[in-house]
Amino acid sequence: MTTITAKINKWNPEPEIISKAAEILRNGGLVAFPTETVYGLGADALNAEAVKKVYEAKGRPSDNPLILHVANIEQVNELVFINDTAEKLMKTFWPAPLTLVMKAKNIIPLRTRGGLDTAAIRMPDNPTALALIEATGRPIAAPSANLSGRPSPTDFESVFNDMNNKIEMIIDGGSVEVGIESTVIDITNPEKILMLRPGGMPREILEAALQKKLEVPDDQSKKKSPGTRYKHYAPDIPVFIWKRGEKFPEVYKKNNFAFMGLHEPDIKADGIILFNDVKNYARGLFAGFRKFEKEKFSCVVVEWPEDNSGIGEGLRDRISRAGGKS
Ligand code: TXA
Ligand code: MG
Repeated sequence: MTTITAKINKWNPEPEIISKAAEILRNGGLVAFPTETVYGLGADALNAEAVKKVYEAKGRPSDNPLILHVANIEQVNELVFINDTAEKLMKTFWPAPLTLVMKAKNIIPLRTRGGLDTAAIRMPDNPTALALIEATGRPIAAPSANLSGRPSPTDFESVFNDMNNKIEMIIDGGSVEVGIESTVIDITNPEKILMLRPGGMPREILEAALQKKLEVPDDQSKKKSPGTRYKHYAPDIPVFIWKRGEKFPEVYKKNNFAFMGLHEPDIKADGIILFNDVKNYARGLFAGFRKFEKEKFSCVVVEWPEDNSGIGEGLRDRISRAGGKS
């Protein structure tokens, strides 16, 4: 399949590009598009055949459910049962890197929700994504637009690398702002709200709005969020984690290792990316993995961020998964 690519003005998307992409989606095809977190690989969420192609293109296990992306709150009503917590969070935060797991209505094909009786919904904070969902007139199911297990794509080149010739179209909206995926919480039981995946929306902000702590899912709930089960986000070269103040991983004795983090280590790396704060670290992590892999470094050492607040929690999660620790 020849993949069409189109460069778009992210803040003021050209209508011709949006309507072409929407037509492909309505006809059951796949379109990769930018969101504020990472690029998504989109399909009509209500078309089980189209959704099947998403799993095939990514090589994703079919029990790992997709997030349905919406452009307005009315659309959510058709898809899931909205409780007071959902209402409050949607009104307060959306569009945002916040995905809500709610009780699904039957209109959502089982394939989209991995056979579960719940579904994950999110309104992305990106004008191109919102225009595309609106023009399509359906919710768009979209996992990150990478091959399963690889770092999520945060720019056009990364999507092209993984998806060229596998899907109908890629929209090039430049680099994303957040760089790691949305925070996923399960609000089906308002008494016990579960943090399924830390991400772009900080825990502290959610807990302040809800006036309660987010809880750790038990094993039963973890099974229901299979995306958190597999080793994930890893480049094709080994990833080692370094905590500042602790011994530097022995890999520096090998030739040609790369380093990424907030502080320059005493050991001199052959390739290095330094970030001035945790936000920029999160934004650049996945692109850094892909760059070092392409430049054929033997491995990459990443600094463990000391600060677990804000996006730090999500960043730590991605780093430990890339290092194979979860
Ligand atoms: O920022 C994001 O969330 C990006 C952009 C494209 O929106 N999307 C994304 O999708 O990261 P994906 O498929 O890579 O991750 C979706 C996560 C997985 O961990 C999956 O297991 C979980 O959401 N999930 C989806 N539906 C669920 C459900 N009904 N119950 C529990 N977890 C669910
Ligand atoms: Mg993903």
